[in-house]
Amino acid sequence: PKAKVKRQAKAVAIVPVARRKATPRLSFNIEAEELPTAIESAAFRSGDYPYDKRMKRKRYNRELEPLQIELLKLLSWARDKGERIVIVFEGRDGAGKGGAITRFTQHLNPRQARVVALPKPSDIEKGQWYFQRYAAEMPSAGEIVFFDRSWYNRAGVERAMEFCTQAQTDIFLREAPAFEGMLARDGVRLIKLFLTIGREMQMSRLHARWHDPLKRWKLSPIDFEAIPRFDAYSQAFEQMLARTSSDGAPWTVIRANDKLRTRLNAIRHVLHTIPYEDKDEAAIGETDAEIVLSAKDYLD
Ligand code: ADP
Ligand code: AMP
Ligand code: MLT
Repeated sequence: PKAKVKRQAKAVAIVPVARRKATPRLSFNIEAEELPTAIESAAFRSGDYPYDKRMKRKRYNRELEPLQIELLKLLSWARDKGERIVIVFEGRDGAGKGGAITRFTQHLNPRQARVVALPKPSDIEKGQWYFQRYAAEMPSAGEIVFFDRSWYNRAGVERAMEFCTQAQTDIFLREAPAFEGMLARDGVRLIKLFLTIGREMQMSRLHARWHDPLKRWKLSPIDFEAIPRFDAYSQAFEQMLARTSSDGAPWTVIRANDKLRTRLNAIRHVLHTIPYEDKDEAAIGETDAEIVLSAKDYLD
């Protein structure tokens, strides 16, 4: 079945961020053995998620394979043409950036497809030009680089956690488009994906991390601040999307409460955006317009 994305659930009207009514705040204790059922049941629809149910694993597996085959074509085109591709993943803690990247890279040659997930800046790096350590990771001819977080830290986590000043964020918001303009003029193709999850979904994912020994390593001190600073993050990200999305370097927002839909649609979006040879449009299928949005549509 060629994946023309079928609606599984009714879409709801999406209320603009600014006009959204404050929902009652459910209190959250990550160490509690059980996640309160009120949080559990609110999680999937939180943050205006338009579906009621997760995508079925079986359907996901069936749809993922043809997309990964297309990714291989994309990569061999990039190698032959010496193309350079950068894909940036941003979003809250627990948005699923790392998991999405893994599905991109699963069958790709690691010599050509690299993941960059930089730790917090060292003292030496703090003394450098802000963009320097990111510039050093840009692809060479034929390479695709996935940024699991990026230079946008200065607009997101560093702002919300107050690791930098508002003035530094303001300067960043002016300079990021200039930085990306230089990359573009040199021929680098840049795709920026912002994965967004709701408050209760973030609670649910962070809780799962704490209580799952295979996931606890993912928890960092920063994650404990994610819920208390949820609104500060929202504000920071809205400013980021408003100020750094342009025709030349647009943000694409993916509503990411359902990890499986997120992964399929992130890959579809990339495949549609890059003009590689022998593209099989039918195998790719349409991105789901309920969850893949322009920055403008998301913010409006
Ligand atoms: P992740 O969620 O990517 O696994 P963390 O939650 O530990 O990692 O941190 C989130 C981001 O914040 C990372 O990109 C990290 O480099 C950055 N970060 C953490 N501490 C600082 C700091 N003191 N100054 C600037 N950036 C920081
Ligand atoms: P996974 O990344 O597949 O190991 O899933 C990690 C966590 O996400 C588990 O706690 C699952 O219950 C949950 N999960 C699994 N599938 C989905 C889905 N489609 N959408 C949202 N969460 C999911
Ligand atoms: C996320 O939760 O967004 C990611 O899993 C964190 C990461 O690994 O990048």
